[in-house]
Amino acid sequence: MLEVEALSAGYGHVAVLHRISLRVEQGQSVCLIGANGAGKTTLLRCIAGLLRPSGGRILVEGNDIAGRPASTRLDFGVTLVPEGRRVFAPMTVRENLEMGAFRRLWPRRDRQVGADMDAVFDMFPRLGERQGQPAGLLSGGEQQMLAIGRALMSRPRLLLLDEPSMGLAPRVVQDIFATIRKLNQQGISILLGEQNANMALQSAARGYVIAEGEIVREAESTMLARDPIVRTAYLGL
Ligand SMILES: Nc1ncnc2c1ncn2[C@@H]1O[C@H](COP(=O)(O)OP(=O)(O)O)[C@@H](O)[C@H]1O
Ligand SMILES: [Mg+2]
Repeated sequence: MLEVEALSAGYGHVAVLHRISLRVEQGQSVCLIGANGAGKTTLLRCIAGLLRPSGGRILVEGNDIAGRPASTRLDFGVTLVPEGRRVFAPMTVRENLEMGAFRRLWPRRDRQVGADMDAVFDMFPRLGERQGQPAGLLSGGEQQMLAIGRALMSRPRLLLLDEPSMGLAPRVVQDIFATIRKLNQQGISILLGEQNANMALQSAARGYVIAEGEIVREAESTMLARDPIVRTAYLGL
């Protein structure tokens, strides 16, 4: 599904990612764990086309997308749920979901959009109840659900999630991760950037550890959770 090969990126003259390589197989759920500032967001932004890498390749189903603009990601089924949710606060819940389906509404209306919105409301009943309200009035957990719902409206085959648990209460975090597992069971491939290593390793089949812009570990999640370095540095054990 996704192959990242020797990817380097940074901001101006500051190099942040150093020859990162990573894979997500079709239908797989993979997590990327690392401390604050390790480079998770930078990597996800490169894959989502929001930041141009300085070197390396990003292959999606065999196509190198590294140099192509963000708008083309939809053609490859790649959608990012950004860090901090980034919902459109003054717009209603429904309008936010429509924004996620923008390319399917214009220039020609895809008739499945309505059914997909109903599916989002089935998955997140709270969003259905509040569909006419401004997104800025939702709780943090509801905004995260909306950010995920908005991403689903583009019908992704690979969903990139950047710190979905950030700032949420433990019970809400459980709900969000249950949703991510459900989406993976529906066949969507997942790449999840998280500081919450405990939840991420429970939810994903495979994991990578990123530190200072380099991949320092990669293994099945169950193996990573037993790794002494991971246990002390990331799981606080
Ligand atoms: N817009 C930016 N301009 C300059 N440096 C940045 C920018 N965004 C992030 N960085 C730097 O890049 C490094 C990696 O950050 P980031 O990818 O956000 O890490 P993470 O998501 O793992 O917390 C950090 O040192 C951070 O300070
Ligand atoms: Mg980040």
